[in-house]
Amino acid sequence: MAGQIPRQFIDELLARTDIVELIDQRVPLKKAGRNYAACCPFHSEKSPSFTVSPDKQFYHCFGCGAHGNAISFMMEFEQLEFVEAIEELAQLHHLDVPREQGAAKARPAAHADDYTLMQQAAAFYQQQLIQHPDAQKVRQYIAKRGLSEKTVADFAIGYAPDGWDNLLKQLSPVNNRTLRDQLVELRLINRNDNGREYDFFRDRLMFPIRDKRGRVIAFGGRVLGDGTPKYLNSPESRLFHKGRELYGLFEARQQPGHLEQVLVVEGYMDVVALAEHDIRFAVACLGTATTSDHMHTLFRYTPKVVCCYDGDRAGRDAAWRALQNALPQLKDGVELNFVFLPDGEDPDTLVQKEGKDAFLQRIAAATPLNQYFFEHLIQEFDPATDAGKSALSVKAAELIKQIPSEFYRDSLSDKLANLLGKPRERTKAAVKRAPNRITPATMKITPMRRAIGLLLQYPHLVKVMPDAPELADADIPGINLLLAIQQRLQQEPGLTTAQLLEQWRDLPEHSILMTLAAWEHQIEPEQLSQEFIDTFYFIEDQYLQKQLDELALRAKLNQLSKAEWHKYNLLLQALKSKKPKLAT
Ligand code: UTP
Ligand code: MN
Repeated sequence: MAGQIPRQFIDELLARTDIVELIDQRVPLKKAGRNYAACCPFHSEKSPSFTVSPDKQFYHCFGCGAHGNAISFMMEFEQLEFVEAIEELAQLHHLDVPREQGAAKARPAAHADDYTLMQQAAAFYQQQLIQHPDAQKVRQYIAKRGLSEKTVADFAIGYAPDGWDNLLKQLSPVNNRTLRDQLVELRLINRNDNGREYDFFRDRLMFPIRDKRGRVIAFGGRVLGDGTPKYLNSPESRLFHKGRELYGLFEARQQPGHLEQVLVVEGYMDVVALAEHDIRFAVACLGTATTSDHMHTLFRYTPKVVCCYDGDRAGRDAAWRALQNALPQLKDGVELNFVFLPDGEDPDTLVQKEGKDAFLQRIAAATPLNQYFFEHLIQEFDPATDAGKSALSVKAAELIKQIPSEFYRDSLSDKLANLLGKPRERTKAAVKRAPNRITPATMKITPMRRAIGLLLQYPHLVKVMPDAPELADADIPGINLLLAIQQRLQQEPGLTTAQLLEQWRDLPEHSILMTLAAWEHQIEPEQLSQEFIDTFYFIEDQYLQKQLDELALRAKLNQLSKAEWHKYNLLLQALKSKKPKLAT
């Protein structure tokens, strides 16, 4: 298996790449002060709000909030996965991407690629559908559900036989510890507290879930009758992140030509049954709501998304959640529609009942976003009353504000004006006034965020960062992140903002770091060092003061030990000798 790409190589790649040059070749840039600017390639706009900083090696759009380093840019602009983006950048510099040997060391003999194992599992399940003594009953079930052999093959549907260790024996005939660990990590195999290992999926119809490139990353398994749970899904693993993947997207993209539209449905069987009826552009979210990530992915591949839900309460709730999650992804030129099915039906049952053409007509007659938006809000707030009107106006403005497309913002504002019987200028102003989602411009900058943001944007500040060993185990939110950045910079002086960000890419802190890297701080360049030092002392003072207060309280009650008295005195002195506090 290819090991991890060494961190050093990624640093070097970022050091060699000039983000200005890289972006300029794809989106022509104009010099604007110390930075460069262009109309944003990630949303449509008439005046440039996309800026690229040569110092930080970082881009940021004030319009849509897109931001990142050279790797992020390649991922977003060229629609690449992380490793592909690295490979692409390496190629520009005529470098080979090295792989770490560490992984190979950790797993000596017969270490297989994760994807290869998943593929082998899928192939095994497919084969069982043909060979297994029980295959007959499964094929009957498949026939009963109206699926042809072609569809079964297109979706690589298979059968996980009953029994505890069919797959286990197939993939790891001898007890190879490293291989078995890997199978457990991929969630193909369970291991219980006694160390006993057994197949995760047993006696189920198997739907392999493939990523955008067609690699098997997980499975859904349906019970062949009325047992529970009806569907068992692979838990999250290093290959599989539910909120990002869409069942059927790879298969839909196999169709020739561009995807004119994508239909989002609820279940595996819906996707497959629609394909059986030659409707090959349906995808399903994997037992989660339709997330903003899903919408983002979908609008990369198609300009038109139609969300299809049950007509019942749950279906309507799911649709409204999908709409809200979709708003930040609505760029000019995209279309989002909603279809509600009759009670008790799903796309699978309906397409079987009424056939392809009737079903396609439902999709064509879907409710546009603009209409559904207000239909829903009117149910929640009564526009016949003043209170209802005002609540509706506030809520609508808040939602409209999140849309990057000026076209959609205007047309929804106009509709809102009509509905409320107000001049359109009034509703447009209400949208402008509505609170923003968290962006660099609106984020509350706490002292800790200020310190982290400054160090991130100006890594050379590490040289003036005071030593404060007592903070290492202090209970202050964010301190560990600040100290981790300091440590990285001490180990490797000269890292840029972009290189620093890269170290946190897959960690929860990444998004706040990206936002802080794009934070517009308004501090004069010659003030930066002092500001940073003052901020740091402010944080330290606050911490020391808090400790002092606690000790002082206990001192009054005569509860201090000798060591604590000592500490109390040290703290008193330390705080006296400190620089004056800054006001934030
Ligand atoms: P449904 O219950 O609507 O199933 O769940 P379905 O797709 O219509 O399946 P059939 O027609 O009964 O075979 C919709 C989706 O919710 C998830 C699955 O992704 C399923 O496709 N689900 C449902 C689970 O993850 N677990 C369950 O137990 C049930
Ligand atoms: Mn169904």
